[in-house]
Amino acid sequence: MEFNISSEEQYRSYYQKSIQDPATFWADIATNFKWKQKWDEVLDYDFSIPKITWFKNAKLNITENCLDRHLEQNGDKIAIIWEPNNPNEDSIKLSYKELHTKVCQFANVLKNNGAKKGDRICLYMPMVPELAIAVLACARIGAVHSVVFAGFSSKALASRIDDAKCNILLTADGAFRGTKTIDLITIANAALEMSSSIETTIVLQRIKSDIKLKKQQKWWHNEIRNVAITAEPEIMDAEDLLFILYTSGSTGKPKGMVHTSAGYMVNTAFTFQNVFQYNKGDIYWCTADIGWITGHSYIIYGPLLQGATTVMFEGIPTFPDGGRFWEVVAKHKVNLFYTAPTAIRALEKFPIEMVNKHDLSSLKVLGTVGEPINEEAWHWYDTHIGKGNCPIVDTWWQTETGAMMISSLAGITPQKPTFATLPMIGIQPVLMDDNGNEITKNPAEGRLAIKFPWPSMARTIYGNHKRYKDTYFSTYKNKYFTGDGALRDANGFYRITGRVDDVVIVSGHNLGTAPIENAINELSEIVESAVVGFPHNIKGNALYAYVILHDGINGNDSIRADINKLISKHIGPIAKCDKIQFVKGLPKTRSGKIMRRILRKIASKEMDNLGDISTLLNPDVVQSIIKGCL
Ligand code: PRX
Repeated sequence: MEFNISSEEQYRSYYQKSIQDPATFWADIATNFKWKQKWDEVLDYDFSIPKITWFKNAKLNITENCLDRHLEQNGDKIAIIWEPNNPNEDSIKLSYKELHTKVCQFANVLKNNGAKKGDRICLYMPMVPELAIAVLACARIGAVHSVVFAGFSSKALASRIDDAKCNILLTADGAFRGTKTIDLITIANAALEMSSSIETTIVLQRIKSDIKLKKQQKWWHNEIRNVAITAEPEIMDAEDLLFILYTSGSTGKPKGMVHTSAGYMVNTAFTFQNVFQYNKGDIYWCTADIGWITGHSYIIYGPLLQGATTVMFEGIPTFPDGGRFWEVVAKHKVNLFYTAPTAIRALEKFPIEMVNKHDLSSLKVLGTVGEPINEEAWHWYDTHIGKGNCPIVDTWWQTETGAMMISSLAGITPQKPTFATLPMIGIQPVLMDDNGNEITKNPAEGRLAIKFPWPSMARTIYGNHKRYKDTYFSTYKNKYFTGDGALRDANGFYRITGRVDDVVIVSGHNLGTAPIENAINELSEIVESAVVGFPHNIKGNALYAYVILHDGINGNDSIRADINKLISKHIGPIAKCDKIQFVKGLPKTRSGKIMRRILRKIASKEMDNLGDISTLLNPDVVQSIIKGCL
């Protein structure tokens, strides 16, 4: 069976096969990869436990598929193009051969430092080639990588190190972000003071600072000197852990989503190929950070599995000016471009000359991910970037799903502005009503669940299988609950409307409100707080905090600044609140639960539409909050 889908008819026939006989279908797709040993059974699952096994007992190493598999015929092809933050610094191009060598070399560095199969290694790094190399080096030796986004604070880093009990930390002396320099090593050192499992830290010199390393800390450049440039890939079981990636949840503790080797490999490669309609020779650029799932699946694994050239960008969209993305597209003749709606909304505010002065004629396909795209941004992207000639794939998926779940296939299946459209092959989405029943008619609106396993789904939450079950498999029997709401039109096209839980997507970053509230509540002046999202024209959503102060304390801007400082310290600047309102009370149910629905409506200025508030413990408080918000 062809790996590439090249017509709508083929999409429909593959989809039918993948639903009617998933085992045969995925077995066929999986033959495109290199296995050390084939599977005994394609799928074994039980959502009630939940336990999901794909490609049972198969043996492989994903890096052999990302690298070694391409060497013979495409060894000199460029695997990674790295574009630095500063446009005056040279970009770096690594061929598949060079990348293979560097990955093997760093795999040996990890081994020399005591790393072995199953160890967890934390990466807290800038967007430099060494990050991709280190991720692959972990996978090469069978160590589990846990990449923590370099915008997170020391506390957030420490809690992630502790949760996974990582024994090695890979970091850098600093990171460049636009005009700023981020002092990564100081943040990492503060995290090390608060956590206990790290034995060795390897530090990359990126900003050429003359810091002194502490005991148990080593310079990256010293470590890679004189190590062998080949490393045999560790043989991994299909279900051995490949990585942990933390995402927000509705409690204060982040969830370490666990992804395993074989199913993740098969599905990220298959979706990359078909959603973007990748052709040999295409230059592909995903602007995400490797600290998020998009970077894992669609900067590193998906593209490299397909032997593509993947661009990795260190900087930000607005440095040195709001035309940087378009300059980079022109510079590297990017064909396939994948970004977030928040970036599009930020860039459409700049004068259009910033776009028009760059030659974007190389572009063939545009993509978006991370949050719902509004109609206006969709049309701006289509008209000004795609010049009306590039299909736009609006890809809905999650850290938990590992790979794209609902999206059109570029130029193959129909697109519809603001709609993610149709399920990917093998994905069985359903809409659920308020009574927990599946809605089968069209059009419809409900909560989005998935009723059958797919190869790249997260298998558990690291160290907390019960939470995995409670969060994803307890809302609806025998279904995975996504936490999102969605519409389905008369043609069966899906449009994701947003989160229905206590997660807010700010600038495409998935933030749980609970850890933000916990941070705020640490301030001695504060009794209680509630954080919700409200619409924001660039970030998609911004954060609104309702805060109760102790008697006798008056709210003022200095307390607001302290609140945001605390949030930065505990989580990172991405979680700062745009609005902070001091209130006398919070609307609560009789059982004491904060009614966030009401607070969300007030923050969104939808005061006319608050619904029934008579059942609240303290309905009077609502009017006083509304007054204070106007
Ligand atoms: O609410 C959905 C939104 O992002 C959430 C997942 O966030 P995260 O795990 O950080 O992964 C983001 C990158 C895959 C989803 O539950 N989301 C993601 N993509 C879309 C989206 N909402 C609407 N349209 C999308 N294309």
